[in-house]
Amino acid sequence: MSQASSITISLDGSNKTAAMPLLSGTLGPQVADIRKLYGQLGIFTYDPGYGETASCESKITYIDGDEGVLLYRGYPIEQLAENSDFIEVCYLLMYGELPNQDQLAKFRAGVTRHTMVHEQIRNFFNGFRRDAHPMAIMCGVVGALAAFYHDNLDINDAHQREIAAYRLIAKVPTIAAMAYKYALGQPFVYPRNDLSYAANFLHMLNAVPAEEYKVSPVLERAMDRILVLHADHEQNASTSTVRLAGSTGANPFACIAAGIAALWGPAHGGANEAVLKMLGEIGTPEKIPAFIEQVKDKNSNVKLMGFGHRVYKNFDPRAKIMKETCHEVLGELGIKDEPLLDMAMEMERIALTDDYFVSRKLYPNVDFYSGIILKAMGIPTSMFTVIFAVARTVGWVSQWKEMIEDPSQRIGRPRQIYTGAAVRDYVDVARR
Ligand code: CMC
Repeated sequence: MSQASSITISLDGSNKTAAMPLLSGTLGPQVADIRKLYGQLGIFTYDPGYGETASCESKITYIDGDEGVLLYRGYPIEQLAENSDFIEVCYLLMYGELPNQDQLAKFRAGVTRHTMVHEQIRNFFNGFRRDAHPMAIMCGVVGALAAFYHDNLDINDAHQREIAAYRLIAKVPTIAAMAYKYALGQPFVYPRNDLSYAANFLHMLNAVPAEEYKVSPVLERAMDRILVLHADHEQNASTSTVRLAGSTGANPFACIAAGIAALWGPAHGGANEAVLKMLGEIGTPEKIPAFIEQVKDKNSNVKLMGFGHRVYKNFDPRAKIMKETCHEVLGELGIKDEPLLDMAMEMERIALTDDYFVSRKLYPNVDFYSGIILKAMGIPTSMFTVIFAVARTVGWVSQWKEMIEDPSQRIGRPRQIYTGAAVRDYVDVARR
């Protein structure tokens, strides 16, 4: 981060001015450093939803929303999706560089060694209803890991932070698969450390003790790509939640559970589930125009799920890759007619030519196509956001580690514009 110039802010009607440094990162717009604004001018800034506010310095992920660019540690997402795999991407996000063969092998072995969960974790599941949403189970059980790794976890010790990161990346898929198996009433399947990260996850989801389950290479590749595409996305709602929780010095397992809660909402990671629900409710392509009219009606409160993004005002690059992957997966699985895909493509076509969406720069986001792939892979809708959480765990832990290691890190504590009652005297209940 460097400072090349400054911005002068003057208060109308007074002779007060203050010069604020203008900071530059490697890429992206300049940023006014307003840390001394209140001290110098006695004013705060107001930015609901933090759309114009950089909450931290980060070296992990870069998004250019106008150009539709997404970089992990400088590498374009398209190149990583094509050439890398999830474990290598995890290493890249955590350590900042692509690993050599030795580093990769050690990292893979390190994460793999932590895939099992304490046997007592199984007991938590019995407390949930069988029809509990798996994201509710994830919030509870991932948070419960804090109870297993708390007393001996010193977040100021770099090695212990690293072990916590390994544990989270390794155990979240195990817990996710357990949540799924619990809903089905099937026995939990232990991790298989001879399989890749994606194949092991699919094995834990789909295997049963009664027969051998061979992971399809097509599904393994598709799952790996889904994980790569969702691995990090700079300071989104769930990542900011993890950072905010972590800024207090809280246990990292509890912080990740907070991130899972934030991810669950339909405006964020819950959108992939909502897209399928929406397509199912619309039912047939002829009903799409009427649905689009409903979306455009401000009084209807209906959104086109899987469309729009706070940062992307162009195609979400992940959505482009997802769409291609969707066609590949359906082709490789021999699924010729998938009505949901036909509906999605028709909806995309209509939306991309409709002035409502064009003028607001609303394009398909990653969730628009991911649900269709997951459905084709035999994953139930309620698990879609859980898979997003499995993938995003590495992003959350990388951002959490970066924050703890940042010397300028302080507790996250936004301010407000207070518009409530001014000071007044208490009135006795008999006189009200
Ligand atoms: N359908 C209809 N109108 C929309 C949509 C949509 N999906 N998204 C935004 N708009 C309208 C919005 O009503 C507003 O209109 P107006 O200017 O007339 O008031 C305008 O577009 C600007 O939108 P905004 O609400 O200011 O945008 P935001 O940055 O606050 O919200 C969003 C971003 C992703 C929450 C929103 O686009 C949305 O709710 N999309 C649907 C849910 C979704 O697909 N979420 C997944 C996001 S990508 C995966 C992830 O990273 O989690």
